[in-house]
Amino acid sequence: MFPEIDRILVTREQIAQRVQAMAQEIIRDLKVDLAKDGHTELDEDRIVIIPIMTGAMIFVADLVRELPMKLSLGLVAVSSYPGESVTSKGAHLASELPEDLEGKHIIVLDDILDSGQTLATVKGLLEAQNPASLRMGVMLDKKTKRTVDVHVDYVGFEIPDEFVVGYGLDFNGYYRNYPEIAVLKPELIPSR
Ligand code: IMP
Ligand code: MG
Repeated sequence: MFPEIDRILVTREQIAQRVQAMAQEIIRDLKVDLAKDGHTELDEDRIVIIPIMTGAMIFVADLVRELPMKLSLGLVAVSSYPGESVTSKGAHLASELPEDLEGKHIIVLDDILDSGQTLATVKGLLEAQNPASLRMGVMLDKKTKRTVDVHVDYVGFEIPDEFVVGYGLDFNGYYRNYPEIAVLKPELIPSR
């Protein structure tokens, strides 16, 4: 069904395990935050998970089901400025921001951290809303590609500088539904 896939980089079993572990890290951090506010249970109406569309949708669908707490979802869409096919030249908001974020504990989630432009942009916009806390997480981190310095609290896997698809990540809009994280055949890989 996917003859264009060359090889698998992260299997669905590895993904599932890591997502569970990341959920535990998030639960631990939120408990600390809420304890500071005087709460002992994760039952406060103040946790907002913000997936960056569209790439984060599959990751976030899996992750939030490992978070046994009251939370809401607020979507954000970001577009990269036109540039070379896969090289990020900066990012801008392509949707409204979720409302009423003041005093909330926010966790922004994306599929992959590459140049850092996307998360840096979103972070700036959300911080302006005065959240109680703001953390960020990604499934994948291409550490060597950073053009802006951005701190992420949760990382699924560090990967080499290869163009990957699957588990939400696309090439020209396709392959997001491929259940593992994979590299396309070399002849299809976008030039960089
Ligand atoms: P950044 O703004 O450069 O950090 O890029 C983040 C965005 O670029 C991600 O949300 C993805 O949409 C896209 N991206 C970066 N690397 C890849 C890749 O290897 N495969 C698919 N999309 C990617
Ligand atoms: Mg994206």
